[in-house]
Amino acid sequence: MRSLTKAVTLAALMFAGATTAIAAPVTIKFAHVVAENTPKGQMALKFKELAEQRLPGKVNIEVYPNSQLFGDDKVLEAMLLGDVQLAAPSLSKFQKYTPELQVFDLPFLFKDMDAVDRFQQGPVGQKLLTSLNKRGLLGLGYIHNGMKQMSANKPLRVPADAGGLKFRVMTSDVLVAQFESIDAIPLKKPFSEVFTLLQTKAIDGAENPWSNIYSKKFFEVQDYITETNHGVLDYMVVTSARFWKSLPDNVRTELKGAMDEAIAFGNKVSDEKAMSDRQRIIDSRRSTVIEITEAERQQWVDAMKPVWKQFERKIGKDIIEAAVQANK
Ligand code: SIN
Repeated sequence: MRSLTKAVTLAALMFAGATTAIAAPVTIKFAHVVAENTPKGQMALKFKELAEQRLPGKVNIEVYPNSQLFGDDKVLEAMLLGDVQLAAPSLSKFQKYTPELQVFDLPFLFKDMDAVDRFQQGPVGQKLLTSLNKRGLLGLGYIHNGMKQMSANKPLRVPADAGGLKFRVMTSDVLVAQFESIDAIPLKKPFSEVFTLLQTKAIDGAENPWSNIYSKKFFEVQDYITETNHGVLDYMVVTSARFWKSLPDNVRTELKGAMDEAIAFGNKVSDEKAMSDRQRIIDSRRSTVIEITEAERQQWVDAMKPVWKQFERKIGKDIIEAAVQANK
């Protein structure tokens, strides 16, 4: 009887040991600032689906959209502190960490999204994914949103129409210079505040791709949207080097595979949304979409292009040249 009790106790101890040896799933928080019905929002949800499918019981992906967890101004600091593991800020928001990514903010640099994609996938674009390494961050890939349009509470056909108006910009000195080049007044503000600033007329205008203008209802508080396609708003998916290296090799490999697939999915969504959200805005009749002529567009190019020279040393001439080459 005593040996039976001993055996049962031993089995119980072994069972307890075995259960404690089963590792708890790694929780990965993915924070972003846009709505779920956007390219980035859809990409984050696809990543959750694929990662949890590939690593059942091993990872638990929590997606926080709409600045619910952190705004873009805080998310990278939070990542370095280990409070969030994934984010995809717009490329304009890395200025504090590296000057090189500001190449993406130069006005009228890329002729279309195919050119942006060629640059990102080419050797210089791929090298830029490592430009944050010295700050403890790893770039896992780029995701598209699309070309930016200019919105305002008055019609903008030529740069002179924007003179003296206040425009919200992301935290990028290139974007500040871009608006100063047309004698407008740029104000750096978080994305989460843009709707209210426009609604209360604390600012007159903003720049955003179609999917942000639609999903955040900016078109309901801006009377006019000028189809300028003057710049790009894309993202870099980032994680902290310390977190990424702490993962077992197989988990890291599967997560990277899931991320690559999710990014490809998000990029498809971005192509579709650029067209469909533009049309939804037109159909809503809440805002007038202005198509400018080639001559009018040239005036914007002439006014804004000197910004390239202003930032050439900071960004790197070779990087700008590689981006120009991607247009060919
Ligand atoms: C985003 O698309 O993530 C936000 C962009 C912005 O701040 O305008």
